[in-house]
Amino acid sequence: MGFSSWCFLLAFLLSKRAKLFPQNSSTVRSEPNLHKTVMHLADLERYKKFGGIWGSYMGRIPEVYVADPELIRLIFVKDFVHFGDRKDPDFGSEVLNELLDYLPGEKWRQLRTFLSPLFTTAKLKQMSDVMADSTSEFMADLKSECDENGRLKIDCRKRLSAWLIDLFARTTLGVQLEDAKNPDNKFAEAFRKMMGEKDEYTRLYSLSLSFPFLSRFAPTFMDEPTKLIVSTFRQIISSRKMQSSGAPQNSKDFLDVLVDLWSRVNTKEFKDLGITENTIVSQAINFFLGGYETSTTVLSHFLLALAENPECQEKMHEEIMSVLKRKGNTEINHDTIHESEIPYIQACIYECLRLAPPLVRPERICTKDWSYKGYSIKKGTRVMLAAWAANRNPEIYPNPESFKPERFLPENKGSLEPYAFTSFGFGPRNCIGMRFAYEDLKLFAANFAKDFRVEKRQDTEIKYKTGATLLMGFSPLYVDLVKRE
Ligand code: HEM
Repeated sequence: MGFSSWCFLLAFLLSKRAKLFPQNSSTVRSEPNLHKTVMHLADLERYKKFGGIWGSYMGRIPEVYVADPELIRLIFVKDFVHFGDRKDPDFGSEVLNELLDYLPGEKWRQLRTFLSPLFTTAKLKQMSDVMADSTSEFMADLKSECDENGRLKIDCRKRLSAWLIDLFARTTLGVQLEDAKNPDNKFAEAFRKMMGEKDEYTRLYSLSLSFPFLSRFAPTFMDEPTKLIVSTFRQIISSRKMQSSGAPQNSKDFLDVLVDLWSRVNTKEFKDLGITENTIVSQAINFFLGGYETSTTVLSHFLLALAENPECQEKMHEEIMSVLKRKGNTEINHDTIHESEIPYIQACIYECLRLAPPLVRPERICTKDWSYKGYSIKKGTRVMLAAWAANRNPEIYPNPESFKPERFLPENKGSLEPYAFTSFGFGPRNCIGMRFAYEDLKLFAANFAKDFRVEKRQDTEIKYKTGATLLMGFSPLYVDLVKRE
């Protein structure tokens, strides 16, 4: 019997003995074949079977899944003191173990307080100009690659992720990537490899979710590319430190804020909290990871949805062209993409985010026993928001699988239940980059609708990766772009 078989046997026995969460009709047994399961589709099946709450085990760790809006509100917002943390993973990297996503208690709170001002309206407007340039250059590149019939086949993930990584480098680090136009450039490749984009999850990976010490043998992030990325980020931050911009507080950019944090690592406050240089580098990487992969997934689904709904593309095109005509502009910028200017395009983005939330199971750890109306969750239980299921609540979204942007038009949006749109999470630990994300999604959508149509191909197919518990993965998604005259 091999090492992984022994671990599997142990996990199985322990899961049978675990008594933390009561077994009842809505409890699912531990899943040894997790690496073969598409998590968000499994969640949907369970939602149909059990309703808005069910339980499961990850090895011996009890888990509760919620998709009911009232339970989501209580757990993620109102009773945050019971559910303030996420799991404490070991990614096998001193830097990646410091990602804001996973920091606990006071350390998380302090860093979140330092980083939140980066996303104020004024800062976003400052970053938006850089994002707008990057987006229009991307459109120009795509146009220049079209054949004589104005068509271009793309692999959505590859093209969108390379563009977004460049956009993040420009907006957050103030650097332009070498060879940025090449979708296989060194930096983009390093991110893809670090995320193990082409790797399959194995049984050892399934086991590492029950036995975190095994994650050293089945790492979430690959070692070599991680080192390259860490050293590049470290270099960029140190060289800004040497230049010390001395910018006034209100015009500090992302890098200035990181440098400020870096200069405090020797203070008693930071030492007591365990905030080191690694913690600071990790936040820069976190913004890339949190931002490019998620936006790539949403925009890939966006292109697929448009290819399947050509009438939506025409409405989007008419909308953006009439805004540009009214404003006498040819360029799309922060003002052009205000919700009041492009309500239909914005509604299409909301509908994509509803149908394909890239973070499939935002999670919390219960740090203090909790109970409500006969439900009780014990300290130590992992609570997962089943995002795909919650966003398909048929009482709120009739015919939930169909793509209907009209649900999110200003005149209809008010009647929707806020806790049934879960794509950015909720409460004090919701997505810190949500406003940044809406900006890049809208800039892409508006530019795309102006310049292109998208069509399905014979080989267009979305095939989801199995075993991904956090971010939804999928195999290459090919579509044809068609240049508008
Ligand atoms: C379409 C794009 C995006 C989606 C769908 C998304 C979604 C999410 C979700 C669901 C969470 C967990 C929320 C919770 O547990 O309540 C999260 C957390 C986070 N996101 Fe995003 N995100 C996106 C873009 C971004 C961007 C652009 C950034 C950075 C600029 C970012 C940075 C983060 C960080 C740092 C966290 C951890 C926050 C914390 O624990 O305090 N995300 N995101």
